[in-house]
Amino acid sequence: MVDIILKREISGRILDLGGGGEGVIGRIYGRAVTAIDIRPEELDGAPGNFKRLCMDARRLDFPGASFDAVTAFYFLMYLVPEDRPAVFAEAARVLKSGGRMYVWDAAYRSAFPEPHLVELSIDAAGERIGTTYGVLGEGMCLSRDDVLSRAAEAGLAPAEARAGGGHFYLVFEKVQYG
Ligand SMILES: C[S@@+](CC[C@H](N)C(=O)[O-])C[C@H]1O[C@@H](n2cnc3c(N)ncnc32)[C@H](O)[C@@H]1O
Repeated sequence: MVDIILKREISGRILDLGGGGEGVIGRIYGRAVTAIDIRPEELDGAPGNFKRLCMDARRLDFPGASFDAVTAFYFLMYLVPEDRPAVFAEAARVLKSGGRMYVWDAAYRSAFPEPHLVELSIDAAGERIGTTYGVLGEGMCLSRDDVLSRAAEAGLAPAEARAGGGHFYLVFEKVQYG
């Protein structure tokens, strides 16, 4: 069990990738959040008062520069590695210049034949959420270095980093031009 403490410190319009499940970011930021998830049942089942859209993070149906922040809370672990470049390119595209992408996740080497499970106790700005996220699939894996590389390729510069026990928190900023 890993403890995660989230404070209400992101401002503006937030796009939450893979925002179904527990709807952690939506629960904290409410109407400021547009949560997208590829599985409608994950969105329907999530508590909280936020906007929900069934959408694929690899092909976002938003115009460029439409969000102040993009969040990915234990979402990247659900992607096969080949899908990450498209997800980061799309996140960078919909971020405003100077906007930030926030990533919380955990590294793992394999999710097959045994699933990879992450057990969390989350303090979501005062609300306690206990949950287990799990993935199962051949070829699935995640590393902090891969996240850093994919972000750099998409034009997202590292702004903040914290890590411990295989879990990591990374913040990236979309480089401003002009
Ligand atoms: C660990 S779960 C949800 C974590 C969630 N952020 C929360 O607060 O509980 C990851 C989610 O990503 C979704 N997902 C997986 N691939 C996706 C994709 N390509 N586009 C959008 N959502 C996706 C899954 O359906 C799943 O609901």
